[in-house]
Amino acid sequence: MNIIVINGPNLNLLGEREPHIYGNETLKELMLWIEKSPLGSEHAFKFFQSNHEGDIIDCIHDERHWCDGIIINPAAYTHYSYSIRDAISSVNIPAIEVHFSDIHLREEFRQVSVIKPVCLAQITGMGKNSYLEALKILIKNHQG
Ligand code: DQA
Repeated sequence: MNIIVINGPNLNLLGEREPHIYGNETLKELMLWIEKSPLGSEHAFKFFQSNHEGDIIDCIHDERHWCDGIIINPAAYTHYSYSIRDAISSVNIPAIEVHFSDIHLREEFRQVSVIKPVCLAQITGMGKNSYLEALKILIKNHQG
């Protein structure tokens, strides 16, 4: 499969940012770990991170003919970006929403996801393993 992994705002600061919540590994290390994992190495990946809503939407549009699956951590956009939600439903590509932390155990505003209804699944609270779980679901869905 061709998979685009999209990470939203502030995730470029992983490793420095609130390490008690998000751990000590950088985004680059985490993405490499996914790509090199036994499951990941059977698939082609592109990785994209942006702090800007429109750039995330453009990425979804631009990759729509290349990718068969989207893994997206919309970060804070999870909780209010109807435009990212619309971008996902516009391209009709299976998408999984992922989070490092368990958004359901955090502040009230984080417990709402406007992205979840247009995704196959939402995986939260498993750290970097959230991304691998998402990959497993995409593969299973692809195989039918
Ligand atoms: C996050 C959770 C969001 O609520 C937060 O805004 C983030 C990261 C996570 O991966 O746990 O930036 O998406």
